[in-house]
Amino acid sequence: MNQIRGNKFSKHWFLDEETIFLNHGSFGATPKIVLEEQRRWQLLVEKDPVKFFEERAPEALINSRKAIANLVNCDYNDLALIENATSGVNTILRSLNFEKGDEIIVPNHAYQACRNTIDYVAKKSGAVVIVCEIPFPISEKQIIIDNIMQCVTEKTKLAMIDTVTSPTGLLMPFKELVDLLESKGINVLLDAAHGIGMIPLDLEDIGASFVTSNCHKWLFAPKGAAFLHVRKDLQHLIQPLVISHGMTIPLGNSTRFRHEFDWTGTRDISALCTIPFIIEEIPKLVDMSWDEIMNHNNKLVIEGRKIICEKLGISPPCSDDMISSIATIKISPEGTKGVDLHEPDPLHLELLEKYNIQVPVWYWPNPEGRYIRISAQVYNSKKEYEYLADILEKCL
Ligand SMILES: Cc1ncc(COP(=O)(O)O)c(C=O)c1O
Repeated sequence: MNQIRGNKFSKHWFLDEETIFLNHGSFGATPKIVLEEQRRWQLLVEKDPVKFFEERAPEALINSRKAIANLVNCDYNDLALIENATSGVNTILRSLNFEKGDEIIVPNHAYQACRNTIDYVAKKSGAVVIVCEIPFPISEKQIIIDNIMQCVTEKTKLAMIDTVTSPTGLLMPFKELVDLLESKGINVLLDAAHGIGMIPLDLEDIGASFVTSNCHKWLFAPKGAAFLHVRKDLQHLIQPLVISHGMTIPLGNSTRFRHEFDWTGTRDISALCTIPFIIEEIPKLVDMSWDEIMNHNNKLVIEGRKIICEKLGISPPCSDDMISSIATIKISPEGTKGVDLHEPDPLHLELLEKYNIQVPVWYWPNPEGRYIRISAQVYNSKKEYEYLADILEKCL
């Protein structure tokens, strides 16, 4: 396994040496130096918890917001630090007031947890969920734009658009979609769970109403680090999921949005505190700038997908410019007989248990199929995809 697994950077992660890890996309993987930095913050808390939360924490979190804002080009005062993209999506959907008959657009490739939130909010308010059908395989991004825009009516209030879709790994034409939708007065909630650290993001330029992105996926942060960006003109509409002191603190020269999101109760903020360190130190660790890391991962996943598709005699389901650092291949037009949507696919288990490859295989109902999704990260190498391709040829 050691001749196949990893590369010169793998030693910087705790990833199991016996496993070929091709699923950075689900939960990320955090380098050792980042976990050490997190530990440093945790110990700092315990040296004097009162001093930490009253004096150090506000400054540390401002520094984290500034570091993120610098990378994704926005005002750091428009950012809230939260735990994950699911809570970002929940924060927006559960703050907004939908009325009976309002329409919310969501593509059929949306992450199920976020889709559940839309369904929940719609059920409570009487809003209507408009599911936009996007095929997969797909020949060009214009189909995505056309299909989403065809769902727009005068009742459309919000559209939830992914930057990169979870089940199908599609890099969405999100900038074009935000332009088109927002120009019609429709608020776009950009689910950029696969966002910061994976694709270049310029939030000022994109101009979406709301953006949430995970730092614990492609930015290498410890788990529980994400952000929510709310455009200034909409901040008065949005409250955190947890109401705390911020609701009544005198405004001073700050805003209610800041007060409410800056304190949501005592919690472990160490993952969030590591962000400036990560943005500064990871490029030194792997000797690549953030742009180079993103390009490297994009090239590697394209190469990996090609290797697998050629071996299996399958055409890539979309063009190279429609993927970023994850790629999904449809291995069958239907699911595995008798296997429920919520159970692990037997191929996933076989790849893991028999061949030590950690890679997701799943059934997705719409567009229906059995899919395998590979990820590429700086600790992966070409020979890992070649090994997976050989095994897949054998198993399928
Ligand atoms: C598109 C998309 N949205 C939301 C999420 C949820 O992320 P988290 O579990 O960190 O909230 C994911 C996770 O994979 C995702 O892929």
